[in-house]
Amino acid sequence: MKIAIVGTGYVGLVTGTCFAEIGVNVTCVDTNIDKIESLRRGDVPIYENGLEDLVKRNVEAGRLHFSTDLTQCLNEVSVVFIAVGTPPDEDGSADLKYVLEVSRTIGCNMNKHLLVVTKSTVPVGTSIKVRQAIQEELTKRNATIEFDVASNPEFLKEGNAIADFMSPDRVVVGIESDKAKSIMTKLYKPFLLNNFRVIFMDIASAEMTKYAANSMLATRISFMNDIANLCELVGADVNMVRLGIGSDTRIGRKFLYPGIGYGGSCFPKDIKALIRTGQENKYNLEVLEAVDAVNERQKRVLFDKLKDYYKDDLKGKTIALWGLSFKPETDDMREAPSLVIIDLLLKAGCKVRVYDPAAMDECQRRIGDAVFYAKDHYEAVLEADALMLVTEWKEFRLPSWAVVKKTMNHAVLFDGRNIYEKEELEENGFDYFCIGL
Ligand code: UDX
Repeated sequence: MKIAIVGTGYVGLVTGTCFAEIGVNVTCVDTNIDKIESLRRGDVPIYENGLEDLVKRNVEAGRLHFSTDLTQCLNEVSVVFIAVGTPPDEDGSADLKYVLEVSRTIGCNMNKHLLVVTKSTVPVGTSIKVRQAIQEELTKRNATIEFDVASNPEFLKEGNAIADFMSPDRVVVGIESDKAKSIMTKLYKPFLLNNFRVIFMDIASAEMTKYAANSMLATRISFMNDIANLCELVGADVNMVRLGIGSDTRIGRKFLYPGIGYGGSCFPKDIKALIRTGQENKYNLEVLEAVDAVNERQKRVLFDKLKDYYKDDLKGKTIALWGLSFKPETDDMREAPSLVIIDLLLKAGCKVRVYDPAAMDECQRRIGDAVFYAKDHYEAVLEADALMLVTEWKEFRLPSWAVVKKTMNHAVLFDGRNIYEKEELEENGFDYFCIGL
C-alpha cells in the first residue's frame, strides 16, 4: 500500500515513519523545503526518543520518502493523512487554515479514488469541511471522482511516541463508508496483534473522542493540583492522598501527580478549543473552564513560594532552574511552566540561571540571552539564592547535595515535581519546599 502524510511536524513524522516501519510505502510531504531536504539526509528536526534511527532505517530501505510536491504524490497513493498544524486562534479555537488548504490541493489535483484521513486534532465538524473543500474543487473542475474522508485522531505522548504508535491502547477511527473501514482495517492490522482493536465510529464521535480524552486527563491534573494546594493548608500530604485514592480501580494510579501545571502542545490548546466549541454551541463547559484557570494559577506556584520565602524581596537574587521543557524526554517548550516562571523572576528583578538536557537551544530561540545558560546542572546553581526543580529529568534525580550546597549562595530548594525527599534534603542542610505537603 502507498500512502502520503501531509505535514512533517511531530504527529506527521511519527505516523509516517511508523507506517513505513511495518512495510507501507510512505511519502511525507511538507511545504518547507529545508525541512524536507534535511529529512532526506536523515536529520530529524525534533527530539523524540528513537525517531532518528527509525527514519534513517526506513529511508535506506526505500519505504520512507520526503517530498514538497503533494500534487505528484496524489497519483501514486491510495490514502492521504492530513497532519498539518492547527494553531490556536486568538479566541482559543483551532485555526483550520492549513487543513483546508491541503484539502483544496487534494480536490484540485486528485485523479482517482482517495481516502483522506484527518489526523490533526480538529474540532468536531472539520472532516465534513474537508469533504466540502475537496468536493468544491472537484466541481470547479467538472470532475466526478469518488473519495472518502475519515477521522483518525492521535493519542501519542511526546517522548514515548514511537512506542505509543507501535502498541496503541486503542486506535479510534471515524468513518462514513465500508470502503474506508476496510482500508483503515488493513492499514492498522499489523499494530493490533495483542488484542488491541480499532474502534470504528462515526466521524463526529471520533473527533470528539480526542478532545474528551485530553480534557479528562487535564482535569485529573488540575484536580490534583487543587487538592495538593489544599493539603498544604490543612497539613495533609498529597503523596499519601494520591496513593490512597489511586488504589481505587475506578480512579486508577496514573496521571495523578501534582506539579506546576500541565504544558505542551496538546492539553492547553485542546482544552481551550473545546471550551470554544462549547461557546459556539451556546454551552458553557464550566468544569473545563476551571481546569484551565487552575492550570494558569498553578504555573505560578513555585514563584509564589519563593516570594514568600524571601518576604517579597527578590530584587538582585540569583535563581537557578533545573529543567525547561514542559516534561522530560522532549525539547518542547510550548506552554511550558518554565516560561511563566522565568518571566515572573525577571520581572521581579532576579538573575536567572538555567540548565536543561535538551531544551537549551529552544529556550535561547524563545527568550534569547535574558537568562544565563549553564553547561550542566551544577554550573546552573553557582552562587544561586534558590534552586527550582522545574522538569523531572532523570539526570536531576540523584545530584550530590553536598556539591550543590557548596556551590549555592543559599541552600533552598523548590521542588515543582515532588521528586526529592524532604528529610534527605533537610539532613543535607537545605530548606525544602514542594507541592502539596
Ligand atoms: C498528551 C496526551 O497524553 C496524549 O495522549 C495526547 O495525544 C497529546 O497530549 P503530551 O502532551 O505529550 O501528551 O504529554 P503528557 O505526558 O500527557 O503530559 C502532559 C502534561 O501533563 C505535562 O506538562 C506533564 O508534566 C503534566 N502531568 C502529567 C502532570 O502534571 N501530572 C501527571 O500526573 C501527568
